[in-house]
Amino acid sequence: MGKISNAIDKYKAEKKASKPVEHVFMPQRIKVEEPEVVFAKEYLKEQRYSDKLVAVLAPDSVTAEMFKVIRGAILYDKDRPAPKAIMVTSTFPGEGKTFVASNLAVSFAMGLNENVLLVDADLRRPSIHEIFDYVNKYGLSEHLQGEKNIPELLIKTKIKKLTLLLSGKPPSNPVELLSSKRMGEFIKEAKDRYQDRFIIMDVPPSQLTAETNVIANHVDGIILVVMNGKTPRAVIQQTVENLGKEKILGIIFNGFAQSYKAYNKYYRKYYK
Ligand SMILES: Nc1ncnc2c1ncn2[C@@H]1O[C@H](COP(=O)(O)OP(=O)(O)OP(=O)(O)O)[C@@H](O)[C@H]1O
Ligand SMILES: [Mg+2]
Repeated sequence: MGKISNAIDKYKAEKKASKPVEHVFMPQRIKVEEPEVVFAKEYLKEQRYSDKLVAVLAPDSVTAEMFKVIRGAILYDKDRPAPKAIMVTSTFPGEGKTFVASNLAVSFAMGLNENVLLVDADLRRPSIHEIFDYVNKYGLSEHLQGEKNIPELLIKTKIKKLTLLLSGKPPSNPVELLSSKRMGEFIKEAKDRYQDRFIIMDVPPSQLTAETNVIANHVDGIILVVMNGKTPRAVIQQTVENLGKEKILGIIFNGFAQSYKAYNKYYRKYYK
């Protein structure tokens, strides 16, 4: 008995002396063993989420918290009903559209009630598949060209309430496809078919493409991402006017600095 209580006392003393373990969040790569939808197998790579998916990999981080705040502001605005179809755009490339669209979609899906369809409608420079680590085999592009129906393109992710529609192969005529009647019908059908589902769309930058303003007509709300301190105020104002002030849900000033120079090559290649 004496020995046991000595051992217990010793253990307690050691425990007291040892430093408390701090909770440090280290982003982990999530490996998905089983795709939830069989056909999605052909899209699967190793499925290691990008480090940029902070809403999954660092749910306690300040950035992930900010996405929850934004989600709340969108869903519970007392002055208007929650928008079902939301597009995320920016004035110029590289301001953080994909980062915002994917993390916001995850944040919605990890909330209590919201199912989300995240659509990569940036047919010129798609990247949602990279964030979630899928092969960009088929997607919106094939649907808009009349080759595939939406149900056979949807990818159910490991995040329970999150479904993806990738962009598919970049077409030669993105303006025509994204400005087409079929695109409007797709948004309408996606909204009507699933009452409890939100659609979040990553779309091309508005100043350099004609299609973005057309898509703006079909959605209920627009989130404008601005690279903080880089995009001139007058230009932001112009973008807001072009897109339609009444649909702007809010402007996200992204503090992540990136030089426009890095995008020079990109401008030339994608926005001739
Ligand atoms: N707040 C942020 N924190 C960390 N990284 C960020 C943040 N915002 C953007 N990035 C990174 O900056 C780069 C550009 O962002 P992103 O791809 O989201 O921009 P984009 O507007 O979608 O660009 P594009 O016009 O090329 O589609 C990416 O590597 C992205 O992960
Ligand atoms: Mg992008």
